[in-house]
Amino acid sequence: MSTHAAASPLAPPIAAPSILSADFARLAESLALADPARDWVHCDVMDNHFVPNLTFGPLLVAAARRLTTAFLDVHLMVERPETLLAGFRAAGADQITVHLEACADPGGVLAAVRATGARVGLALKPGTPLAAAGRWLAGVDLLLVMTVEPGFGGQAFMEDMLEKVRAARAWRESHGARYLIEVDGGIAPDTARRCRAAGAGVFVAGHAIYRQRDPQRALEELRQAIR
Ligand code: DX5
Ligand code: ZN
Repeated sequence: MSTHAAASPLAPPIAAPSILSADFARLAESLALADPARDWVHCDVMDNHFVPNLTFGPLLVAAARRLTTAFLDVHLMVERPETLLAGFRAAGADQITVHLEACADPGGVLAAVRATGARVGLALKPGTPLAAAGRWLAGVDLLLVMTVEPGFGGQAFMEDMLEKVRAARAWRESHGARYLIEVDGGIAPDTARRCRAAGAGVFVAGHAIYRQRDPQRALEELRQAIR
């Protein structure tokens, strides 16, 4: 586990720059944008099976861990995520999010994430209804509502996911649950604002930050939009 104490807040609203869209030859610079006192850093792990893309593993997360004290939000888009939990936690992940669709035994996998000491996230692809996660929602720290099909940055926000965010907020209220609601995919100031109104608390953004001329300013605009 990391020796860095997570300096980041757990109180929404939280902006989470996604390094998927960053220049990996300038990882230090990319991570320096994030303010450990208020932002998270989102790490997209893809295995070319669960999604048709391949990114990085614990080695890169460990490098990120050495470059920032910000809260590391690790999003696993992999099959059999249970086989990788210890490795990502040892690399310094503060939170590990698994996809419901990737788990043969979701309750077992979520308990295994908890046992690592990381915060526990559960992600839903756009086609997976909130009801499919109902059995596990009370026990997670974060519900990730994918607002694009997972796999690639730079896709268009799916408007109909706003309804899932509203449903997730309503479920949380009616069941006294505590999870944060995170949105991921096509998030920019305007879509973030609408997701915030619908109940989201954590806003992942790749292209809207790292593919802008001035990424630091773009991040500030996102922070302003979700205030
Ligand atoms: C997509 C990833 C996202 C990605 C979002 O599968 O989970 O985290 O970085 O990228 P943008 O913000 O460019 O849509
Ligand atoms: Zn992601």
